[in-house]
Amino acid sequence: MPKVTIDGHSIEVPDGTTILQAARMIVDQPGYQGENIAPPTMCYHSKLKTSGGYCRSCIVKVSKGSEKDPRPMPKLVASCRTTVMDGMEVQNTTSPEVLEARRGVVEFLLINHPLDCPVCDQAGECHLQDLGYENGGAKTRYDFSRRTFAKIDIGPYIKLHMTRCIMCFRCVKAADQLTDNRFQGMLFRGDASEISTYIEKVIDNDFSGNVIDVCPVGALTDRTFRFKSRVWFTKPMNAHRSCTKCSGKVALWEKGNEILRVTSRKDKWGEPEEFICNECRFEKKHINDWVIEGPRHIDPHSVISLNHYENVLAKMKLDVAKQQKQLADKK
Ligand code: SF4
Ligand code: FES
Repeated sequence: MPKVTIDGHSIEVPDGTTILQAARMIVDQPGYQGENIAPPTMCYHSKLKTSGGYCRSCIVKVSKGSEKDPRPMPKLVASCRTTVMDGMEVQNTTSPEVLEARRGVVEFLLINHPLDCPVCDQAGECHLQDLGYENGGAKTRYDFSRRTFAKIDIGPYIKLHMTRCIMCFRCVKAADQLTDNRFQGMLFRGDASEISTYIEKVIDNDFSGNVIDVCPVGALTDRTFRFKSRVWFTKPMNAHRSCTKCSGKVALWEKGNEILRVTSRKDKWGEPEEFICNECRFEKKHINDWVIEGPRHIDPHSVISLNHYENVLAKMKLDVAKQQKQLADKK
């Protein structure tokens, strides 16, 4: 099994593992206490075949190619598309070059993205918001007007707001791999490319709603939830029901006793653990439809996630305790 070292952490992984997967394996190890060394992703999705390789947010530096050929790779590489070699050494958070290049990627992704987070349903759980927050600059150098598109209803449940799309291809792959009839795809090339539904054709399939969950930004949103609430005002709960089409295991987003939306349960990488059917997602909005398992812990993934505040609060408590100790020592 090849051994790879990422930001000083080593792990042995099966043949064919990518640098990104190896980094996630390191972070997922029981008892791992270090930094999150897994590169950020916008287009890679572990459950969608052939995803990745489009956005470049996962770039890393390979400072040693392998034991056999220790030369560094000449350019930064996309970690979601580069497989590890035995003895490979990789830098992610420890490389200023990577951080600078990633800042450029964020700037590039934001060139055409509207800054409408205050009215976007994805705010608070948007991967681009997180990427910008963690890796972006405070200003844009872009003076030209951003491209805009009219919003499109893809059937009764899904809204496509192309203006926010970052061309990650995840929805195309999800529609291709989860549904029988894919009507949507990428049209044109370069800065003219757009997600299209072949003249607004309805995606009429039991699993089409999953394109909402895989979209890293607010380009594909749930029409039954739009503008109902900011996500951080809702209570996420784990719940299940017996369903013949999917596992029936979902996350409910409640306000009071009202279920505002139903989504798949997302893992710490922001990816659905299991894809759910449209009936569970869109048609079961009554509390009696579900067996409630309990409150759902939100991983510190999102800028405005509950846990982000938990972390900030924990850090503040630690700082205060440190200051108190220093004052006590001085006395
Ligand atoms: S609509 Fe969303 S999932 Fe589809 S390509 Fe655009 S950003 Fe990606
Ligand atoms: S996540 Fe690797 S290129 Fe997008």
